[in-house]
Amino acid sequence: MNEKAMGNFSELVQKRRSVRKFTDEEIKAEDLQTILRAALMSPTSKGTRAWHFVVVDDKDLLEKMSLCRPMGSQFIAGAKVAVVVLGDREVTDAWCEDASIAAVTMQYQAADLGLGSCWCQIRNRFMENGEPSDNVLRFLLRYPENLTAECVIGIGYPAIERKPQDEDKLKWENVHVGAFPQEVE
Ligand SMILES: Cc1cc2nc3c(=O)[nH]c(=O)nc-3n(C[C@H](O)[C@H](O)[C@H](O)COP(=O)(O)O)c2cc1C
Repeated sequence: MNEKAMGNFSELVQKRRSVRKFTDEEIKAEDLQTILRAALMSPTSKGTRAWHFVVVDDKDLLEKMSLCRPMGSQFIAGAKVAVVVLGDREVTDAWCEDASIAAVTMQYQAADLGLGSCWCQIRNRFMENGEPSDNVLRFLLRYPENLTAECVIGIGYPAIERKPQDEDKLKWENVHVGAFPQEVE
């Protein structure tokens, strides 16, 4: 096990934070493979596994991808690797859920390996001129029309340390046991 690895899932979920600044350290090929393996093992509606993943490590391409939105995507330029998570709309109506679950599974696997990551939303995001961010990525990465990018996960070694999730700020009030409480007049 990697020396930074957690070994305990409840610790891992507390430790995982979005990381948008990365060092220059290369991601080991086997670690990247472990991250993609996690995506490929993630649950999908009816077991369709109708996602695709485009793995990008080319600096120029990462920079171009980082301009696919007016804001919120710039961190991709500094990522060591970005994984574009695509769903196949022609195969499943749950493509968005399946892609999201694969994406977040990669994020937890990355955190378990001591890597940082952040989600960049692509679906329903647009350039200033109204062009969908998905089209910008489609042009750069040549994926077919039946696929839509849900998100890009930028990955690398964290350049800054982030505090774990604050146990005292968890929104337990949003958890409703049994049913929502009855309104009292
Ligand atoms: C559906 C979704 C979309 C997100 N989109 C972006 C994004 O476009 N750009 C970005 O920098 N972070 C994005 N994030 C990361 C969130 O900002 C981050 O998860 C949130 O602020 C909570 O911080 P934490 O991940 O450190 O707990 C996204 C996260 C999710 C789950």
